[in-house]
Amino acid sequence: MTYTHIRVDREGSLGIITVAREKALNALSSQVLAELSAAAFELENDVDVRVVALTGAGDKAFVAGADIGEMQEMSPRAAAGLSAMGNSVGRAIESSSKPWIAAVNGFALGGGCELALACDFIYASTNARLGQPEVKLGVIPGFGGTQRLSRRVGVAKARELVYTGDMIGAEEALRIGLVDKVVAPDQLMAAVRDIAARIAANGPLAVAECKRVIQVGQSITLDAALLLEQQSFAQLFDSADQKEGMAAFLGKRKAEFKGR
Ligand code: CAA
Repeated sequence: MTYTHIRVDREGSLGIITVAREKALNALSSQVLAELSAAAFELENDVDVRVVALTGAGDKAFVAGADIGEMQEMSPRAAAGLSAMGNSVGRAIESSSKPWIAAVNGFALGGGCELALACDFIYASTNARLGQPEVKLGVIPGFGGTQRLSRRVGVAKARELVYTGDMIGAEEALRIGLVDKVVAPDQLMAAVRDIAARIAANGPLAVAECKRVIQVGQSITLDAALLLEQQSFAQLFDSADQKEGMAAFLGKRKAEFKGR
């Protein structure tokens, strides 16, 4: 697929998706959402990619939300379609077998904050501003914000952010657990590359199973989740990576995982 509003790059085992509509602060039109879906599919199926980073072009915005110009005259039916598209991108990120890292390099508002919330980690630059300002436009978050924000920062903080539409800075976002790390703007991608490399050195099947079990475990009972963990743990003993990982440890050498 040829992308016009996003870029997809590869740096070894790291896939990088950049939303590139800088003039509109990387706002999510339906075209951008369609391209993000296609890129998520492309990187999911690339065995050489172990971790995916998502960022925005320029130094001002990660993603400033869904495209307000496109939404202005939308019918409820079209709005439902847009929300479904946004949610399907969030689901693709969450159900990916690879960890996704949001590199929030500026405004992450509305749908932008929601995209970041679907990622496994949110790294932010010191100039990042995050929020769910939809109520200022007379609507509510439509790409999962009411649910993922409260799961991440707790219901009380989520209510405050969603009801007021306030933006918060990176340090406040770190304090409430909305972001995981804050670094200087010119260090953001280096910090992402650093954690991505540490993850990519591990068994990819094991990392994928960790992600799946943690994710699915969020919405089922503890008993069911522990059973899922037990089954996943057992299943990995059928993999070449388990043999390699344990042989390498006992042989005092670095493991060479194949993802099989
Ligand atoms: N959609 C479309 N265009 C947008 C946009 C958006 N979400 N955010 C910014 N832009 C455009 C502006 O219209 C402007 O375009 P022009 O140069 O053609 O006028 C350009 O980006 C630069 O923006 P500003 O001039 O406004 O820049 P600023 O520095 O003064 O302000 C800002 C930056 C505070 C991020 C401000 O642009 C803003 O508040 N943007 C809207 C944020 C927002 O409300 N996001 C939520 C959208 S609703 C949503 O996302 C629903 C959902 O959950 C799915």
